[in-house]
Amino acid sequence: MVFTGAGMSAESGLKTFRDSGGLWEDHRIDDVATPEAWKRNPEMVLRFYNERYRQLRQAEPNGAHLALAKLEAAYNVQIITQNVDDLHERAGSCNILHLHGELTKCRSNLDENVIYPMPPSGLQIGDLCKFGSQLRPHIVWFGEPVPAMIQAEKLVAEADLLIVIGTSLIVYPAAGLVFQAKPGVEIIIADPGELNYTLWDRAKHIRGNAATTIPILVEELLNKA
Ligand code: OAD
Repeated sequence: MVFTGAGMSAESGLKTFRDSGGLWEDHRIDDVATPEAWKRNPEMVLRFYNERYRQLRQAEPNGAHLALAKLEAAYNVQIITQNVDDLHERAGSCNILHLHGELTKCRSNLDENVIYPMPPSGLQIGDLCKFGSQLRPHIVWFGEPVPAMIQAEKLVAEADLLIVIGTSLIVYPAAGLVFQAKPGVEIIIADPGELNYTLWDRAKHIRGNAATTIPILVEELLNKA
């Protein structure tokens, strides 16, 4: 089981949220990532996500994404990601659960199950779903439920190794997933930052950037298989 956050894609050129220079330094969550922001100023919300989408189209999977895809040669790998990019998919991983939505899709304002591919130039005011309502980014905003959590909790509870990559583990409910690992299951956390949790007495910390540390970890695991 691999649980990823924004640090996973940092070396693909996509900014994290809370590091110095991160996305939440230049943008207020309340302005761009809540249902209230969408009601108040949909243009600003679309500008923010269209820019994320534009950058994603120029980004490529990095060595960490590619290494995780290779791990499937010998292991049953399930990825749960908080990331809204499609770099795990493009690297070739097969089992990916997106907790916070996907930049490459948009959806109806009226029915969250009516989902479309994102138009190549992003979403504009006036782009409508089949019911005639404005389309919105297929993103889980702050204050909204996380529909994939139940499935994610089940998957983590079944894991026999949990690898956590590039997440500050600050945003709930996603961050709580690590507590679903069965007692005794090894937890490896790959992140260049400090671990600020007492629970992590239980975890092995691999300190460094994902594109460097994950290919090494994957080689070790493949050698053990
Ligand atoms: P954060 O920005 O909170 O945390 C990024 C983590 O990546 C930090 O722990 C960094 O130390 C680590 N990091 C930075 N560079 C790295 C690298 N090259 N390799 C590995 N790790 C690196 O991002 P998330 O934890 O993903 O949600 O944030 C969680 C959620 O908060 C996001 O999904 C998003 C955001 O607001 C929504 O928008 C709903």
